[in-house]
Amino acid sequence: MSEPVFRTIIEPFRIHTVEPVRMTTAEERKAHLAAASCNLFQLHADDVLIDLLTDSGTGAMSRDQWAAIQRGDESYAGSPSYFTFRDAVRELFDFEHVIPVHQGRAAERILMSVLGGPGKVVPNNTHFDTTRANVEATGAEAVDLVIAEGKDPASPHPFKGNMDLDALDALLAARGPDVPCVFVTITNNSGGGQPVSLANLRAVREVCDRYGKLLFLDACRFAENAWFIREREAGQGERDVADIVRDIAALADGMTMSAKKDPMGNIGGWLALDDPDLAQECRNVLILTEGFPTYGGLAGRDLEALAQGLKEAVQHDYLRYRITSTAYLGEALQKAGIPVLNPIGGHAVYIDARALLPHVDPLHYPGQSVAVALYEIGGVRTCEIGTVMFGRRPDGTEAPAAMDLVRLAIPRRTYTQSHIDYVIEVCERLAERAHRLPGYRITDEPKALRHFTARFEPIA
Ligand code: F0G
Repeated sequence: MSEPVFRTIIEPFRIHTVEPVRMTTAEERKAHLAAASCNLFQLHADDVLIDLLTDSGTGAMSRDQWAAIQRGDESYAGSPSYFTFRDAVRELFDFEHVIPVHQGRAAERILMSVLGGPGKVVPNNTHFDTTRANVEATGAEAVDLVIAEGKDPASPHPFKGNMDLDALDALLAARGPDVPCVFVTITNNSGGGQPVSLANLRAVREVCDRYGKLLFLDACRFAENAWFIREREAGQGERDVADIVRDIAALADGMTMSAKKDPMGNIGGWLALDDPDLAQECRNVLILTEGFPTYGGLAGRDLEALAQGLKEAVQHDYLRYRITSTAYLGEALQKAGIPVLNPIGGHAVYIDARALLPHVDPLHYPGQSVAVALYEIGGVRTCEIGTVMFGRRPDGTEAPAAMDLVRLAIPRRTYTQSHIDYVIEVCERLAERAHRLPGYRITDEPKALRHFTARFEPIA
C-alpha cells in the first residue's frame, strides 16, 4: 500500500510545559507603542501576544534537552559537557578547533578582531546586521555579493542566497591582498531566509582556492539550508540531511555560529576552524572576553542542551514540519493579497513592505509602518529588515536599503497552527488598511545598529 498523504501539517511533538500569553486591547497596545516610541524592540514582551520578532533563542527546548541540562558539569576547565558539545558539533561540522561562545556575534567579533582591520574587505552573500557591524567596527569594509535574483523579492530562483561568483572573482582580482576571508551565510537571513546551493558553495570554494582565501560559513540556519538542498537541488532528494550538512562543512575552513537558531538553544554559539595558529589567536581573545576555551561564556548545562539540540535539528520529521509550516503562513498571506518575498524562506515569512505601501517613500520606512500596524492590530510583534536596519552608512549618510521587508520569524516548536491562523487574520486586517498607513521619521538614533533603540514618530 502506498503511504497515505494528509493535508494537515502536524507538529511532530506534543506539549509538555505551557507558558501563558496575554491578550491586550487595541487601546492598550496604542499606549504601549507610544511608550516605546514606536520601536518594537522597546516593548515589554508581556504586552506581546504572538512574538515573531525573531527565531533566535526563542524556540522551545525538548524533553531530552531539559534532561541533558541536568547532566551539565560546571567545572571551570575541561568539563565533560564541553567534550559532549564538541563531539556533537564535529559530528556535523568536522573542524579541528571548536570554540564555544555565548552567542553568534561573539564568534564574529573574535574572528574579526584577528582577521579584520582598516583597509581590509570581507565579502559575504549578505552580512547580517551584527556581522556587518563587527566587520565595520574593526575599520574593515563589509561587501554583500548575493546574486541579482537575491535582491528581487519576486524572483522564484530556488537558491536566492547564492553568491554572485563573477562579483566575488572580480573583488578578489582587484583587492585580493585586502581580503582576509570569504563568508557565506546559510540561509541568507537578511535576504529573506533563502538557501545557498551545494553547487554554489562548491564554486565559491573553487574561487577561494584560486586566490588562496579562507572560506567561513555563518551557519545559523544550516539545517534549514540543507533541507532546501534536499528538496530543490538535483540529485540530493534521497539524502540524509546530516550528510548534506557534512558536505557543506567539508567545503569550508571554518564557521561562526549562533546556536540560538537551528541548534535549538536559548543561548550559545561557537567558532570552529581548522587552522591551528588562527585558532590559538582566537582563543587568546576568547579568554579576554568570553571565558576559558572549554566553556567560552556558557554554562556546562548550556553546552549539554546544545549537543542534544544539534541532534534534533537535522531530524527529517522536524524539518519537514518546520519548512512546510513556514510556507503555510507565507502562502496564506499571498492569498490575502500581501506581497511576500518568494520563495518562502525557512525560518520566516518576509512581507515586501515597499510593495505593500507604495505611497510611503523608503526613507519614511514602510517596513516600520507595517511592523507597528501588525502590533497595533493584533499584538503580533515582527521585525523591520530594511531601511531602518541598513539605511545608515558608516559615513553618516542615509540611503534606502535594497529591500524594505518585515520579517515574521517563527520561533522553533513554539507556536501551534491556530496561533499562526490568528496571525493570518491579523495580516488580513493589515491588507485592508495598508493604503492608509503613514510613513515614519526617526527623532533620535545611535551611531550604529540604530534599529534596536531609535525613536520613531508617524508623519501626519
Ligand atoms: N548571523 C546571522 C545570519 C544571524 O541571523 C544572526 C542573528 C547572527 C549571525 C548573530 O547571532 O544573535 O547569536 O549573536 N540573528 C538574529 C535574528 C538576532 O533575529 O535574525 P547572535
